[in-house]
Amino acid sequence: MNTTNMNILVTGGAGYIGSHVVVELTNAGYTPIIVDNFCNSEKSTLEGLKEILGHETKIYEGDCRDEKFMTSVFKAENIDGVIHFAALKAVGESVEKPLEYYDNNVGSLILLLKLMKAYGTINLVFSSSCTVYGQPDQLPVTELSPKKKAESPYGNTKQICEDIIEDTFKSGVDIKAFALRYFNPIGAHPSGLIGELPLGVPNNLVPFITQTAAGIREMITVYGNDYDTKDGTCIRDYIHVQDLAKAHVRSLEVLNDMNKSHLDFINIGSGKGNSVLEVIQTFEKVNSLKLNYQIGTRREGDVEKVYANASKSKNILSWEVEKTLEDSLKDAWNWQQKLS
Ligand code: NAD
Ligand code: WQD
Repeated sequence: MNTTNMNILVTGGAGYIGSHVVVELTNAGYTPIIVDNFCNSEKSTLEGLKEILGHETKIYEGDCRDEKFMTSVFKAENIDGVIHFAALKAVGESVEKPLEYYDNNVGSLILLLKLMKAYGTINLVFSSSCTVYGQPDQLPVTELSPKKKAESPYGNTKQICEDIIEDTFKSGVDIKAFALRYFNPIGAHPSGLIGELPLGVPNNLVPFITQTAAGIREMITVYGNDYDTKDGTCIRDYIHVQDLAKAHVRSLEVLNDMNKSHLDFINIGSGKGNSVLEVIQTFEKVNSLKLNYQIGTRREGDVEKVYANASKSKNILSWEVEKTLEDSLKDAWNWQQKLS
């Protein structure tokens, strides 16, 4: 399959995951075109991309909800496929500002689907999340596990967006789409030139760990050690962001080879579960340092354990993780040190 010169619109492409996908798309011979309004990313990411790729990536700065702007992009470029990352993703913030999350996350998808139909772009990869499962009844969680009532407006936007794509597909619109349900992406590009830029106090575990190791945070609090797990702390499926990025390239390749409309939902995880304490201890070991942490109370809304059954991604995408938790935590620390 010839991917050279296939133009792929990467909405949110200056963000954490999107920027890593831009690297892998380029390496695979695609031509990524970024759309981003920089509401949760910095222009410095574009410099990092340029240093990794040896050239600038085309970018249109603007809002995915702006019909005039987005129409101008579709008019100017022959878009062969779209990877839709653009969204707000802070669970806690979504509880405080639900309307902002519904407007941004759902509104941007609706406009995108309208423009894809109008301009005949049929390939779509959508950023979904394991958060749609809530606390699964069975583990490892498969794509057939029922979607539980979302714990947050953010999680609800992901469920709603999946339903919108499914209803669009069922209406007979010509679309070939995968909704990829990411588990916990961590780490950074091994070069240390791009990575996660948590603006403000990090919500997520690994950036909080790296900022504690860098002395930016005084200590990390483990949110509860009274769960029904091997060491009492929550279990998650941590996946290197570079492996996650490669899953997007494989998704486009598989969609491109299909000759009729298609929709599927695929877990993108390592298939392994690790506890919070295991992550902390592994980080200390691979980076030869000691972390200052304490055990605190549970965090509202946390599920006890969730990790992927990763067999469908292997069967459908011929993809599986290559990197280990150790690799992810080394690359996370390398990135933090470059940042500091
Ligand atoms: P991120 O915030 O780093 O990247 C999102 C990018 O989208 C940012 O650059 C932001 O400026 C941009 N953006 C947001 N709204 C926009 C709009 N209306 N118009 C244009 N640009 C806009 O987040 P990320 O971690 O890279 O996540 C990417 C996607 O993956 C999101 O949809 C997120 O919900 C999903 N996801 C992330 C995780 C995770 O743990 N990081 C897990 C599961 C799913
Ligand atoms: C992981 C574990 C915490 C910070 C979130 C979103 C999810 C997705 C991925 C977008 C949990 C514990 C954390 C800390 C801690 N994002 N923790 N101390 O909650 O699994 O998922 O990010 O789609 O939607 O919910 O990730 O990194 O926040 O937490 O003990 O300072 O680390 O309790 O068990 P989570 P996380």
